[in-house]
Amino acid sequence: MYVCLCQGVTDGQIREAIYEGCCSYRDVRESLGVATQCGKCACLAKQVVRDTLSEVQSGHAALACQASFVAA
Ligand code: FES
Repeated sequence: MYVCLCQGVTDGQIREAIYEGCCSYRDVRESLGVATQCGKCACLAKQVVRDTLSEVQSGHAALACQASFVAA
């Protein structure tokens, strides 16, 4: 599903970015460019980031920097 239409970013890409080392909404935004144009997707993007981080934290996947979880 597309989260950010302006940048063409999907929820899958956001998850992938987190699995690859992004530890916060800010990291994801910087790496994918999500919510850098109209900003309408920011809420949903944050939600996806939060869900994925808590999924990762509950042990479904290894993460490069687990200690710096930010609940944005
Ligand atoms: S939909 Fe993401 S910046 Fe516009």
